[in-house]
Amino acid sequence: MIKVGIVGVRGMSVVTAMKAMPNDVKINAICDLSSDALENMKKQIGDEELKCYRVYEDMLEEADIDAVVISTPMQCHVPQAILALQAGKHVMCEVTAAVTMDELWWLIENVEKSGKIYMYAENYCYMPEVQLVRQMVKKGYFGEIYYGEGEYTHDCTCIRNWNNKPGWRSYWQMGTRGSFYPTHSLGPVMQCFDDDRIVSVASFSPGNHNPYGLRNDDLTQTLCQLESGKLVKIRVDTISPRPHNMTYYQIQGTKGCYEAPRGLGDVAKVAVATEENPDGYSTWRPLSDFNDLLPERFKSGAGDNAGHGGGDYYIVADFIEAIKTGKQPELNVYKAAEWTSVALLSQLSVTNNGRIMEVPNFRAGMKWEEKRIKL
Ligand SMILES: NC(=O)c1ccc[n+]([C@@H]2O[C@H](COP(=O)([O-])OP(=O)(O)OC[C@H]3O[C@@H](n4cnc5c(N)ncnc54)[C@H](O)[C@@H]3O)[C@@H](O)[C@H]2O)c1
Repeated sequence: MIKVGIVGVRGMSVVTAMKAMPNDVKINAICDLSSDALENMKKQIGDEELKCYRVYEDMLEEADIDAVVISTPMQCHVPQAILALQAGKHVMCEVTAAVTMDELWWLIENVEKSGKIYMYAENYCYMPEVQLVRQMVKKGYFGEIYYGEGEYTHDCTCIRNWNNKPGWRSYWQMGTRGSFYPTHSLGPVMQCFDDDRIVSVASFSPGNHNPYGLRNDDLTQTLCQLESGKLVKIRVDTISPRPHNMTYYQIQGTKGCYEAPRGLGDVAKVAVATEENPDGYSTWRPLSDFNDLLPERFKSGAGDNAGHGGGDYYIVADFIEAIKTGKQPELNVYKAAEWTSVALLSQLSVTNNGRIMEVPNFRAGMKWEEKRIKL
């Protein structure tokens, strides 16, 4: 039985999943600066014995927990993850992983030194549709993948803090230039490129025309060059007045392609050449024609009540599995660092007229002298 502490109210997104695995995991403590938030969380969890903390360090010191789920604002992630690792706890951390490049190396060093599990909670990678496309990629339906696209269009201009005041997002997200929140777009796409990695990024924007006084550009387009020479493009747009679409993806291979829905009745679709139909790449078919290929565990219905199409269940299941086996999960600290660095380097790129920024190779045991941003 893994005993967990949750910091930040968003951590409630994993509670349904945890309740569905009563023999594997138990929430023993919660922490939030807001006593109202704590009270609400306690009610929802429905456990009178649950320990509540307003000071994170107190939870780490006093609560009977093996692991921490970090769901606080982005700028808290690395300091809180490091404190947890140093206290001997495993960590599952919300997106993005860090707010500076230096924090990324600091985080990796602490994960390596502690030997504890670090899981990056990029839940979009676990959405059933994303998993189905990934399965089609693995089985070669699209041939060799050479291009991918991800878009996060989500008008966040009205999002307030829990106390209904503009809060951390005004500074750390929409107060920051570049693709500051890239991993919902990158994660699912990068999963289609096996072990390829991003080696450089260049970001461009149409400028800043918003009436809200936000520092972020209206949107940012970031081109990511992979080590293999292949290409990924992402759009992060949290200001434009348009319908939400946080999960728009495209995958292009030598034999066909996938496109997520754009809206207004559109559906997820693929066009693939097969032996029986070599011209199949020129005609769309609904992705649902291939539902049988969905990995078995996603068909089980186990995650049906959890958020993000059930994805929030499977991400918790993989975190618990990683703790039990002592093997770092697929969404490990190196992926967290690579995908998060796109945000941080894109800021430098867009403020330097689209300058190409080299992405460090965040591999295990990276040498101190390599931990630098190359201009
Ligand atoms: N994966 C996803 O789909 C997804 C969706 C939304 C938000 N997020 C991420 O989740 C995180 C939280 O976002 P949110 O929208 O819930 O923010 P929020 O502002 O609504 O909630 C943050 C909570 O953390 C608490 N908090 C802040 N500092 C704290 C501290 N030092 N100690 C204890 N509690 C503290 C606040 O009181 C608040 O209740 C962010 O990193 C965000 O990027 C992820």
